[in-house]
Amino acid sequence: MATKIAVVVGSIRKDSFNRQVAEAITKLAPEGVEFNFVRIDDLPLYNQDSDAAPPELMTRLRNDIKAADGVLFVTPEYNRSIPGVLKNAIDIASRPWGHSVWAKKPVGIIGVSVGVIGTALAQAHLRNIVNYLDMPLYNGSEIYLAWKDGLVVDGEIGADSKEFLQGYMTGLVEWFKTH
Ligand code: FNR
Repeated sequence: MATKIAVVVGSIRKDSFNRQVAEAITKLAPEGVEFNFVRIDDLPLYNQDSDAAPPELMTRLRNDIKAADGVLFVTPEYNRSIPGVLKNAIDIASRPWGHSVWAKKPVGIIGVSVGVIGTALAQAHLRNIVNYLDMPLYNGSEIYLAWKDGLVVDGEIGADSKEFLQGYMTGLVEWFKTH
C-alpha cells in the first residue's frame, strides 16, 4: 500500500520558491509514495464560533490531513516565524478541542528563504507548534535552504543539493512507515 504524504506549503504566492522546492523534492521520493498538495489558500480565517458547524473548506482540510500517513511542511519564514496563512491552516485542523487531526501524525519540516538563515527561526517556531500538537517530528536531518540559482532547475532539484535532499526524502518516508 502506498505511503500517503500530505504536503502543506506555507506560501500561497504563485511563483513561491517553497512550492517549487516542494514539487521538486517529491520527485526524489522512493517508489510507493503518493503526495497530496493540500490547499490552504482558500480557507476562511479560523473562528472558534464555527467549531460546532465548520465550513466545508475547513472539513476538506481536516479530511486531507486525516487521510495522510505523514505530513511534510515546506514553509517560508515571515518575520522570524511562519506565515499567518500556514498558522491559520494549523489552527483550523487542530479544532474542535479534542478532535485535532494533527495528533500522532508524523511530520517533517523543511523550508527555503531568500536569506542565509534558510527559515531556521520559522522552523524553530513550527517545531514548537508540532510538539504541542503531539506530532512526532522527523529529526533525521534539519533542512535549511537558501534560494539561489540552480536549486530548482526545470522542476527538478539541482545537482548541488540533489543527493542531500534525496537522502532526506528517503529517511523521511522510511520513518513515516514506522510511525
Ligand atoms: C519575508 N522574507 C523573510 N526571509 C527570511 O529569511 N526571514 C524573514 O524573517 C523573512 N520575513 C519576511 C516577511 C514577509 C512578510 C515576506 C513577504 C518575506 C523573505 C522570504 O524569504 C521570501 O519572500 C521568500 O521568497 C518567501 O517564500 P516563497 O513565497 O518564495 O515560497
